[in-house]
Amino acid sequence: MTVHIGAQKGEIAETVLMPGDPYRAKWAAETFLTDVRLVNEVRGMLGFTGTWNGHPVTIQGSGMGMPSLSIYANELIRDYGAKTLIRIGSCGGMQPHVGIRDVIIAMTASTLSTPSRGIFKELNFAPCADWSLLRAAVAAAEAKGTKTHVGGIYSSDVFYDERPDLNEQMTRHGILGVEMEAAELYNLAARHSVRALAVLTVSDHLQTGEALPSEDRERSFGDMVEIALTAAFA
Ligand code: HPA
Repeated sequence: MTVHIGAQKGEIAETVLMPGDPYRAKWAAETFLTDVRLVNEVRGMLGFTGTWNGHPVTIQGSGMGMPSLSIYANELIRDYGAKTLIRIGSCGGMQPHVGIRDVIIAMTASTLSTPSRGIFKELNFAPCADWSLLRAAVAAAEAKGTKTHVGGIYSSDVFYDERPDLNEQMTRHGILGVEMEAAELYNLAARHSVRALAVLTVSDHLQTGEALPSEDRERSFGDMVEIALTAAFA
């Protein structure tokens, strides 16, 4: 057990999918894994371990924002030996050609700041995805026929943004979408020599104001989970 995860050693798989929402972790585990058991419920941040095509997989909620994700990812890596961590979550589209329900595979994640700022200080470290996972996820998305974009995303610290000019600069620089967790996951993976990737579903669009109707969310989310699982074991 760790401060924030109640699982015993050995109850967490080396491959961990991390949705922000703990109930999404429950849904994904029940939908895609077999022999599922609850391994964490500390603070309601549900985690489940099961198998996918015979491979052990844990699906652990990260909470929203980089400080929350950092707590869970640190403990998963340092205390439970997680080796492959894939964020599965939603993001806001930032380019006209990026549509609602499309999948974004994040090659890099730009930020204003991350919990790692304290060690990087003046250095603008470039958080990037693991290449083997990125390549396998793109292949899996192509095989499924999912409309997918690959490129940079923006990991913001705020959902209710008082500086829309920053979003405009991100859009101007080709950033595909905005979410709130991936950059710190990539920083931690680099620091601890493990693999990380973020596979995201566009749930809303900053320019058009469109949002995914709730009844469509599960199906769209499912493509992303399958892409992540396929990539993890490619
Ligand atoms: N902003 C930040 N995070 C998000 C958004 C957004 O518009 N949509 C989904 N996650």
